Amino acid sequence: MTVSTDHTPGVSEQAARIVAALPRADKLRLVSGADFWNTEAAEGHGVSPFMLTDGPHGLRKQNGAGDHAGLHDSVPATCFPTASALGSTWDVPLLEEVGAALGRESRTEEVGVLLGPGLNIKRHPAGGRNFEYLSEDPLLSGRMAAALVRGIQSEGVGACLKHFAANNQESDRMRIDTIVDERTLREIYLTGFEIAVREAEPWTVMCAYNLINGEHAGESRRLLTEVLRDEWGFDGLVMTDWIATHDRPAGIRAGLDLEMPSSTGAWDARTVAALRAGDLTEAELDVACGRVVTLALKVAAERASRVPADRVAMHDDHHALARRVAAAAATLLSNDGTLPLAPRGRIALIGAFAESPRHQGGGSSLVNATRMDTALATMRARLGTDGEVVYAPGYDAATGEATDEQIAKALEAAEGADAVVLMVGLPTSFESEGYDRTHLDLPASHERLIQAITAQHDRVAVALSHGAPVHMPWADAPQAIVTGHLGGQAAGGALVDVLFGDAEPGGRLAESYPVHVRDVPSDRNFAHAPTQVQYREGLYVGYRFHDTFGVPALFPFGHGLSYTTYEIGEAKVTGRGTSRTVTVPVTNTGDRAGSTVVQVYVHDPVSSVLRPEQELKGFAKVHLRPGESADAVVALDARSFAVYDVDSAAWKVEAGEFEVRIGLSSTRIVATKSVRLTSGDVVAPSPAPASAVATDAEFAAMLGRPIPAPRRLFPFHYDSTIGDLKTTWMGRRFAGALGGVMAKAMPTDQDMPDEVRETMTSFIVNMPLRALAMMSEGRLSFASLDRLIRILNATGLSARRAARK
Ligand code: BGC
Repeated sequence: MTVSTDHTPGVSEQAARIVAALPRADKLRLVSGADFWNTEAAEGHGVSPFMLTDGPHGLRKQNGAGDHAGLHDSVPATCFPTASALGSTWDVPLLEEVGAALGRESRTEEVGVLLGPGLNIKRHPAGGRNFEYLSEDPLLSGRMAAALVRGIQSEGVGACLKHFAANNQESDRMRIDTIVDERTLREIYLTGFEIAVREAEPWTVMCAYNLINGEHAGESRRLLTEVLRDEWGFDGLVMTDWIATHDRPAGIRAGLDLEMPSSTGAWDARTVAALRAGDLTEAELDVACGRVVTLALKVAAERASRVPADRVAMHDDHHALARRVAAAAATLLSNDGTLPLAPRGRIALIGAFAESPRHQGGGSSLVNATRMDTALATMRARLGTDGEVVYAPGYDAATGEATDEQIAKALEAAEGADAVVLMVGLPTSFESEGYDRTHLDLPASHERLIQAITAQHDRVAVALSHGAPVHMPWADAPQAIVTGHLGGQAAGGALVDVLFGDAEPGGRLAESYPVHVRDVPSDRNFAHAPTQVQYREGLYVGYRFHDTFGVPALFPFGHGLSYTTYEIGEAKVTGRGTSRTVTVPVTNTGDRAGSTVVQVYVHDPVSSVLRPEQELKGFAKVHLRPGESADAVVALDARSFAVYDVDSAAWKVEAGEFEVRIGLSSTRIVATKSVRLTSGDVVAPSPAPASAVATDAEFAAMLGRPIPAPRRLFPFHYDSTIGDLKTTWMGRRFAGALGGVMAKAMPTDQDMPDEVRETMTSFIVNMPLRALAMMSEGRLSFASLDRLIRILNATGLSARRAARK
């Protein structure tokens, strides 16, 4: 793969010359968008505008009205499997192919930057946006994201790592303050970004909405400049998430270059005042502007050197790729030999998802698919005259609800069938950007169907569609369970490929599936408080928790079965010092082609700081024909053995013995090798909790300071949300009036699906007050917003005083 991150020679110098010649007003204009999706131009200076748009698993280019809630339509584009599925492939070359396809569609539609991949850590299984993220593990997230970035950028389109950083829940995402200790931040939440930046040199990074330890992510000089640029060598552009700006001059000072979308000059007066007062320097503004201009020149140069692809042929190819990828992501969770099915006889296909696929999540990533495979049509075509498909929907695809009659009809369809395929999962409204799930249950009707059908039939394969783990108290009942995750527009076709063994279920879980959400330590501190979330579980995220505390997951990280069998030969670890190569011979001993993922975990038996039981440090996916052998080769380096030493702000390796564990999942370790390292590194003691959730005292020790008090909801400030206003009488009246205005701006389309309405409502309720000025198109200045907030606070205060009398 050719990586074309750089950077037409001399572009930054050319940009610096342009910026030096620009009047300040033009510079201020350029560091903010022109509209919802496009940047500003300085035509007289050779700077053309370019488009940035979602992402991440397909292009969402809107030609008409713009929104970031999946509200308005976008041009048809291939809807690839979502990141939760992509991460489950563990297949670096395949994700490069997906990235290249995304890049090709973007450049054909004249998009300069695709807003993805997203690689936040899945801290809690109910995170509303988990389907848009790759894994619970930073190494897997980073490697998968790097592959996508290389692919996208190989087509001359910029990629965007998002959301930087520690953006791990949707509830109150615009103003939640993530309280996390430094070691956890580095080892869990930043490592994936670091890998992707170092490996793939993305053109852009998007900062997160949230605050981290009291500071807005977009105003953190430490994150955006010291860590991202100075330490990791990032030399691209940092943009805001949409309407994330909280203080524009502070953002520029911190290293935040581009504000998106346009705030129609709302911040200009503040920025000029900061320049006058010396709180911001002209040089700092020039740097931000220079990066915008550099990117504009780069986009223009790439565009000039390439021709758009033929849309029809491209969409055909990409649909085929989407089907291949969906099968490579499909994860066989259990199987007694029922799968693969023989492509003949009578097969009962039950579940409305067979006709109305659940294939992607809600919010800004919503892709207008070019076409849609259904399992029903594909299965009928696959069986042809050799067999019969008896179909019953069993439930309503949109609501997930079922009538007694629907269940009875499903049972009737299953009666006498040679095998039953039962498609269940989460309806669309369960998973979206903008809100988190409140439980991990499947809809009650889906569970009822599983119970009823498995009680009656003994060849039942459950096929799941969902973007994140679900409770499966019924897991022992069916003879096989396969998850297609959210498999994109070809999910239906890919499922049929996998069910009949035309394709191998290539997926391995990129996240642990807990028995119950209560097992997970982050559950104690997740989406419970409106202004603060405390990461008291520290490093104990996902398998790091399960494996350290011996609390089994229902299906562990890295798990996934195959249709064939493998023999793992004698593993070797070669090399010296921290630079080691793990070589594992693998033979396909079955009679089908297949793939498996060799996973390498490192365990540190003696350490002066607390470490999780083991951590993933490398992996290799091998594809083998029947009887074929190949070596899985995994390289380890200093970071594979290191911890982050907070005292010295450096990664350190302690001398001593390490165990290199070779596994087929985090709990299926098939070989262990010992490695002895010499090192002069000294790691300072690092406070850690005695259990999986830190007590107050332990958490304060981890933070190195008292636990900060959560920000109060009243008095109101820029980060207060429209939803917060309901706490005062005047606020309620104001929010009511505002709601009326906003409702008018929403399409009156009766057909707006419930989930889009739900996402939109959550966007409005969670909108921070500062966004009123930014989105008012000049009608509300920040000075007026300040006055408004003062009034709301004064009336709220006097009402509270009166109430106390
Ligand atoms: C999301 C981003 C997205 C942007 C533009 C935001 O709400 O958090 O991921 O790229 O909107 O749609």
